[in-house]
Amino acid sequence: MPIDTTKEDVITLAIESSCDETSVSVLKNGRTVLSNIIASQIEQHQKFGGVVPEVASRKHIENINMVIEEALEEAKVSFDDITHVAATYGPGLVGALLVGLSAAKAIAFAKGIPLNGVNHIEGHIYANFIEHKELEPPFICLVVSGGHTHLVYMEDYGSYEVLGKTRDDAAGEAFDKVARALGLGYPGGPQIDRLAKMGNKEAILFPKAYLEEGSYDFSFSGLKSAVLNYLNSQKMKGNSISVEDVAASFQQAVIEILVEKTIACAVEKETKQIVLAGGVAANSGLRELLQNKAEEKRIDLKYPSLQLCTDNAAMIGCVGYYNYIRGYRSSLSLNGVPNLKIGEVHS
Ligand code: KG4
Ligand code: ZN
Repeated sequence: MPIDTTKEDVITLAIESSCDETSVSVLKNGRTVLSNIIASQIEQHQKFGGVVPEVASRKHIENINMVIEEALEEAKVSFDDITHVAATYGPGLVGALLVGLSAAKAIAFAKGIPLNGVNHIEGHIYANFIEHKELEPPFICLVVSGGHTHLVYMEDYGSYEVLGKTRDDAAGEAFDKVARALGLGYPGGPQIDRLAKMGNKEAILFPKAYLEEGSYDFSFSGLKSAVLNYLNSQKMKGNSISVEDVAASFQQAVIEILVEKTIACAVEKETKQIVLAGGVAANSGLRELLQNKAEEKRIDLKYPSLQLCTDNAAMIGCVGYYNYIRGYRSSLSLNGVPNLKIGEVHS
C-alpha cells in the first residue's frame, strides 16, 4: 500500500552503527516502522570471540549504502519523502559511530533536511514505544545490553533519572564472558539462555553482589570471576562440568539481582509500569522472573519483541522523531561521543 506522505506525516530515516550491526529504518510518525534492515557482522567477529572495533568500522563502511538503499526500497519511499534523518552518535565504538553519523549528515546536507543525533541507550528504551503503541511515560526501565546496565525512571519524553547503573561489567558483557569461558560462541547470552533451560539453577551457589543497602547500582565482575574460578577448580580436580548447570546457576544469579532492584525502584517511585530494554531483555529467564514478581505487586511489565531488543535502527528513529517534534535539531558538526551518558545532549 503506498504510504501517505502529506505534510502531517513525519517520515524519519534512521541509522544505527554503534557496534556490530549496520541498521537503517524508515518510520512514519515515530511509531510505525516501514522498514528496519539489519546487517549483522556477528559472523565476522565470532572468530575473535568478541567485537573487534577496526573490523566493525570497516564492515559498516562496506554495508552502509546498501542498507540505506534497501531500507528506502522496502519502505517504498525516496530521499525526497524523508522529513528528517536520525542517527546514533553515542555511546559506542567511535569509528563505528562515525560511519552511520557521517552518512546521516551527508543525507541531511544534500537534501536540506534536519539531523537528529540520538543516544543509543535511549533507543533501547524507545523500542518499547514501537512495540506497544499505547505505552506512555512515566515508567521504570531496566536497560540491559552488552555495553550497559541502567535502571532509569523515565518521567517524560527526553526526561530521565538514572537510579542505578553497573559499576563494572554490563549484564550482557558478563553473559558473553562466561559463555566464552564455557567454550560457547559469541554472542554468549542466547547460548546461556538456551542451555540454562536444561540445567539446574540451584546446582551451584554463585555470589550475588547487592552492594550497599538501598543502592540500585549493579556489579557483575565478582560473579563472573566466581564462575571462572569454579570452572578452573573443577578442571584442576579432574571433575566433569555440567555446562547446563553452570549456565542455569549463573543466569539465575544475574537475573535475581536485576529483578529485585527493578521491583524495588518501581515501589519507591510508586509506578505501576516497568519496561525492559536492551539485548539481555531477550533473556527468557529474566522475562519470566520479572513477570512473576511484577504480577505479585500488580505492576504491568512490557518488553519488546526479540528483533527490537537487540540493536536496530527503528528504535533510534523513534527517539529521533520525539526529539524532532519537540524542536530539537543537531548541527552538521555533531561528533560521535563514545561515552555519551543517558540524558546528556550534544548539538
Ligand atoms: O543491545 P545489544 O544488541 O547491543 C548493545 O548495545 O550492547 O545487546 C547485545 C547483548 C550481548 O551481550 C548478548 O549476549 C546479549 O545482549 N543477549 C542476551 C540474550 N540475547 C542477547 N543475553 C542473555 N540472554 C539472551 N537471550
Ligand atoms: Zn545496544
